[in-house]
Amino acid sequence: MLLVKTKENLSEVLFRIKSNDKSIGFIPTMGALHQGHLSLIQRARKENLVVVVSIFINPIQFDNKEDLQKYPRTLNEDIAMIEQFTDILFIPSEEEMFPKPPTEQYYFDHLETVMEGASRPGHFNGVAIIVKRFFDLINPDKVYFGEKDFQQLVIIQALVKQYELNTIVVPCPVIREPNGLAMSSRNRQLSPQEQDIASKVYDILEQSLTMKSLSVKQTVEFVISKITEIEGITFDYFQIVDDKTLQELTQWEGTAGAVGCVAFHINNVRLIDNVRYR
Ligand code: PAJ
Repeated sequence: MLLVKTKENLSEVLFRIKSNDKSIGFIPTMGALHQGHLSLIQRARKENLVVVVSIFINPIQFDNKEDLQKYPRTLNEDIAMIEQFTDILFIPSEEEMFPKPPTEQYYFDHLETVMEGASRPGHFNGVAIIVKRFFDLINPDKVYFGEKDFQQLVIIQALVKQYELNTIVVPCPVIREPNGLAMSSRNRQLSPQEQDIASKVYDILEQSLTMKSLSVKQTVEFVISKITEIEGITFDYFQIVDDKTLQELTQWEGTAGAVGCVAFHINNVRLIDNVRYR
């Protein structure tokens, strides 16, 4: 695995690869890697000749300084976890990616104003800025994004379409702990007890998947009432949305894809998860 820290060095390395016409798979991350990240990297390993991973804690997608400061940093462990599956690890500094404060403005209409967009203003513009800069540098054939961050995945698909980028977005399933909790770098900020409490949210989502006779509204009411009963959890939102438009659904009929997205806090750590109803 080659460790690359500058854009210039990355371009040089990639130029050699491109002139050999090798396919490139790219996985952007913010580090504190776990099996969820690894599943994306392993999928890319199977589908490409060259696998590029980035680790960059992108300051402009955090709406809150404290959240940025306490984001886990575990570079040595990250390297050990991925080196056998990765060809190039790009770990630029903040100065390298943002020598000047970035001013790009991306527009995703409704997609960026709901759910995470409503709770974290500016978040998706920050994500789009860094991801677009990475895509422009790397020019990957395929990029791998987890369904864990479902809204982010839909926004990246919109970005690729808007700019007619020559890359395929590959959605990858949510990887979970044995207790059902979706793996997340932020889980490291929780005690084992808090992780157990957080996993109860997924129990409720799973339960709601089996209640097929309920309407959309009844399902939403069921999930919200159950989650707000869990002690230690501050509920943010739960919505069942169309998987392409992210419009809130009012009925199951006539929708090909329905995803229930949830966000909550536990001990000031914000977690998100989702399940697919259709
Ligand atoms: P990060 O949270 O590190 O996630 C990197 C990628 O791993 C994302 O595509 C995310 O959806 C995926 N991922 C995280 N947990 C997962 C899980 N349990 N199962 C499957 N996939 C999972 O998302 C970001 O970083 C950033 O916003 C980024 C795209 C790197 C831009 O800064």
